[in-house]
Amino acid sequence: MKNTPSDLSAIIKKILPQLEDYIETSMSGSGKVLKQQLASKLSGDLGLKKWIKEGGINEHNVSEFLQTYLDNSQRMHHPHYIGHQVSSSHMASAVADFICGAINNPMAIYEMGPSGAVIEQTIINWMLEKAGWFVGDSIEDFSQKDGNGSGVLTHGGSMANLTALLAARARIAPEAWDEGNPGDLVVMGSEVAHYSIARAISIIGMGKRNLVTVPTTSMEVLKPELLEERYKRTVENGQRVMAVVANACATSTGLYDPVDEIGQFCNENGLWFHVDGAHGASALVSDKEKHFLSGLERADSMIWDTHKMLRTSTLCAAVLFKDGSSLANTFQQKGSYLFHDKDKPGFDLMPYTIECTKAGIGTKLFWVLAAEGEKGLSDYIDNQYGITRKFYELITSHSDFECPYYPEANIICFRYTAGESGNDYQLGLRNELVKRGDFYITSTEISNVRYLRMTVINALTKEEHVSKLLEEIVLIASS
Ligand SMILES: Cc1ncc(COP(=O)(O)O)c(C=O)c1O
Repeated sequence: MKNTPSDLSAIIKKILPQLEDYIETSMSGSGKVLKQQLASKLSGDLGLKKWIKEGGINEHNVSEFLQTYLDNSQRMHHPHYIGHQVSSSHMASAVADFICGAINNPMAIYEMGPSGAVIEQTIINWMLEKAGWFVGDSIEDFSQKDGNGSGVLTHGGSMANLTALLAARARIAPEAWDEGNPGDLVVMGSEVAHYSIARAISIIGMGKRNLVTVPTTSMEVLKPELLEERYKRTVENGQRVMAVVANACATSTGLYDPVDEIGQFCNENGLWFHVDGAHGASALVSDKEKHFLSGLERADSMIWDTHKMLRTSTLCAAVLFKDGSSLANTFQQKGSYLFHDKDKPGFDLMPYTIECTKAGIGTKLFWVLAAEGEKGLSDYIDNQYGITRKFYELITSHSDFECPYYPEANIICFRYTAGESGNDYQLGLRNELVKRGDFYITSTEISNVRYLRMTVINALTKEEHVSKLLEEIVLIASS
């Protein structure tokens, strides 16, 4: 393939029917969801060494390579893909990816991608509006109105959590940017806060042990009534609480921490309240489900992944702040958030991100919204949350299975209970299921008990598929 637009066009024309067939077959539910082979065999089948050393891929030989590549890929659009919290992506977001790849605008500096930059800021305003942190008349209003929040898109929720905690540090210890951490800072959060929180604390240089964990219920929901006692003990130890983190929702169970009660505690004690909504913040687009985030007005920051429940391809997350100045203070002590000085037609996002070069990732969500509108996304959330509750009825009505809790979001855990049912046994069932390749599910521990786990993220997954899944598990158990 030469570096010409006509070669690009030729190769795209060649591979499009293959991609269409791959996704259509996946969506129809035929064939395996995953075939795994040894990495050493796969690299040979793909001819990786030859391609890397010699080059020469073109429209005549690309099909063979792509077929092997697709045959060895996870079929995210298969109704039996009920695995991780990664979207069974909307086709519209692939259009965004293609355009971004073709024109390559690293838009963190406005002049390096005005369209990408203005789309990101409009998407941020849309998200702020959903969070109740936007006071402008229109999401196309980029002036820094009093009372407006702020935010930026990051390459993933882990980066977004890190950014939020850096903002919390900038509030409690602004000198840390120049002088390093004061040494008395801790973060309080659930015992099962996503591991990116502990990582962020380590990366910031506070040391992971300065995550003060607050006990949870047996279903791993933070107990707000225990915050007071933990906080008191922390203060008596001479430590200062930099932030309190809530799960909205928890990765393992999809259950929401009580945002309102935790927020109340934080507000009463003047503590930064961070809501990790990587998965569950998307409930904000649904009138039916947004009650899970009641009390969000008490929070200072929130993260929200679009590649989980907003149907975009990987990777795009937002970190949002209620107070517009929080983002400006994160990476520098001076500077206005969106500067509109006379010489600049737009705004540079670079001073407000960990990343320097940044892809136009907001276009992914823009394209999904442009295809579906807000109503389409809201219907999607309603469907995924709603059908997961139906799956709960289906699983609990089967004599061989139990679910430990009624699902709130689209994550459901269950165990095979007929006959042997220990932790290793559940894991063995899952591993065998994935090895067979007809279904893709995950597994997790809740209070040291292992469960099979589904994230119902594919709009095509219906009750008939879950019934078949249960049948296959019973079959594996009896074999
Ligand atoms: C609650 C929560 N926070 C943060 C993350 C990290 O997000 P990402 O994978 O986009 O870095 C996840 C990922 O599953 C999550 O479930």
